[in-house]
Order: sequence, then C-alpha cells, then structure tokens
Amino acid sequence: MIEVRHICKTLPGGRRVLDDLSFTVRKGEFVGVLGASGAGKTLTLRCLNGLLKPDSGSILIALPGGGVEDICKVPSRKLRQIRQRIGVVFQGYHLVKRLTVLENVLVGRLGQISTFRSLIYGFKDKEAEEAVAALEKVKVAHLAGARVSSLSGGEMQRVAIARAIFQNPHLLLADEPISNLDPSNAKVIMRLIRPLCEEMPVIGVFHQPEMTAKYCTRIIAIKEGRIVYDGQPVLTQEQLIDIYGEELRQIENHNHERPVL
Ligand SMILES: Nc1ncnc2c1ncn2[C@@H]1O[C@H](COP(=O)(O)OP(=O)(O)OP(=O)(O)O)[C@@H](O)[C@H]1O
Ligand SMILES: [Mg+2]
Repeated sequence: MIEVRHICKTLPGGRRVLDDLSFTVRKGEFVGVLGASGAGKTLTLRCLNGLLKPDSGSILIALPGGGVEDICKVPSRKLRQIRQRIGVVFQGYHLVKRLTVLENVLVGRLGQISTFRSLIYGFKDKEAEEAVAALEKVKVAHLAGARVSSLSGGEMQRVAIARAIFQNPHLLLADEPISNLDPSNAKVIMRLIRPLCEEMPVIGVFHQPEMTAKYCTRIIAIKEGRIVYDGQPVLTQEQLIDIYGEELRQIENHNHERPVL
C-alpha cells in the first residue's frame, strides 16, 4: 500500500507544480496517471520513488516485512533501503546497452547485495535462476545471453520489466512505459504489467487514454499539479477535454471532418 497525503512542491521561482495531491493505492490496483505535458506526472512519480522530496505532506509506504514508513521523513540510509524494493520502469528503458540481457536484470538487485559482492558481480546461481525466471515471465528468456544493444524497443521494455520484477518490489512505478512502442508492443507491455498488480500496487503514467482505460483498474488525472479525476477507468470526451485542454476538441473535430479513406 502507498498512501500519499497532501503533497505539495513549489519550484524555486515560486511556481507550485504539485498542489495538495492525496491518494492511496493498494495491492490489486493498477492506477493509470493521465495529464497533459507538464501537468506534474513525472514529478509525482519522483516523489513516490523518494527521488524528490515534497515541501510538505507525507508518503506512507507499507514495507515488505510489515510496518509503514513515511518516505518524506526517513533518514537517507533507510530511504535507500526502501527504494531498493521499489521497481521502476521508464520510457527510455534505462538499460546498460553493452551488457547482456541477463546482466541487466541482475543489476536490478545490485543495491541489495553487499558492496564486495557487487564489485565482483558476485551473484549466486540462485539469483541467476531467479533472473531467468523474471525473463521467462515477460517471455524473453531466450534472449538472456544477447546484448541489449541488439534488441528491439519492445524487447528492451520487457527486459526493463524483468529487471523490476527481479528486484522483488513491493511497489511498481512506470513512467510512460509504452510511449516508444508501436500499438501491438504497447498492448503486450500493458498485458505484462497488469497482472503484477496482484502482488503489489502498480502506478503508471500514460499518454494513451484508451489503453489506460482498457488495462488500468483506476485512473488518476492531474492538471496543473492537482488531481482533477480519481476513479473508474472510464472517461467521457468532456472529461478528457478538461484534462488535456481545448486543443483535444479541435483535434477531434478535425478528425471528424476528414473524409474516410
Ligand atoms: N527540475 C526541474 N526544475 C524546474 N522545473 C521543473 C523540474 N522538473 C519539472 N519541472 C516543471 O514542473 C512541471 C511538471 O513537470 P513533469 O515532468 O512532472 O511533467 P509531466 O506531467 O511528466 O509532463 P510530460 O507528459 O511532458 O512528461 C513542468 O512544468 C516542468 O517544466
Ligand atoms: Mg513526464
């Protein structure tokens, strides 16, 4: 469970980019965060991941061993520990291209093993087996020995998900995980991410309202740093226009005016 309570963030120039956000996400939920460019979606995820500290408010995370911590208040060492069990998947994959697929997955747990073992890449056989199991889960185990630089975008994103799974996370965050992908690969990735919410809360930022409505269990929409919608993954055209602005109406009208080919 992750519970965000009244978080605010103001930039040094005085612009408030996160304005009193509150929401709770539980295991079993796959929340899709929507919003126009610059709305504050990435900033929100950065706060949830402990990379950015809000000016006020709290972010309570249920820990795997029991107990709850406010990541805005814990000391940095504890925060590092908590962050090791937060899986993140980004738009740009964030993989090490010169390493193999298997090595990239193993890297996901570097923060959890001793410095000495990590210096010599001292992973145990059991860990390698678990890494392969994570790759199997996203159906790219056959690529374990391949260099990441030789993979397609869809394959890279699967490896990124496998790396997050291998971290054994208790929270999964994804920032635009399907933005670089063609529609068919995007669907594959959504289908891989969705069942993960049975084991942990999953929060993803998307720019594809239809895909979000289809695969997420709930939608949160952010506009100018505020939550303007939080509920069922069903949005009307008017709600979408409210979220994305009047330009969307113009695009829609333009599409209707175009002759059907
Ligand atoms: N490090 C920073 N310094 C100054 N302004 C920032 C910083 N990071 C983000 N911002 C500003 O805060 C606002 C919200 O940014 P954020 O990255 O959360 O947008 P977003 O909703 O993720 O947009 P996009 O869909 O384009 O990724 C933007 O106006 C952005 O310019
Ligand atoms: Mg963003």
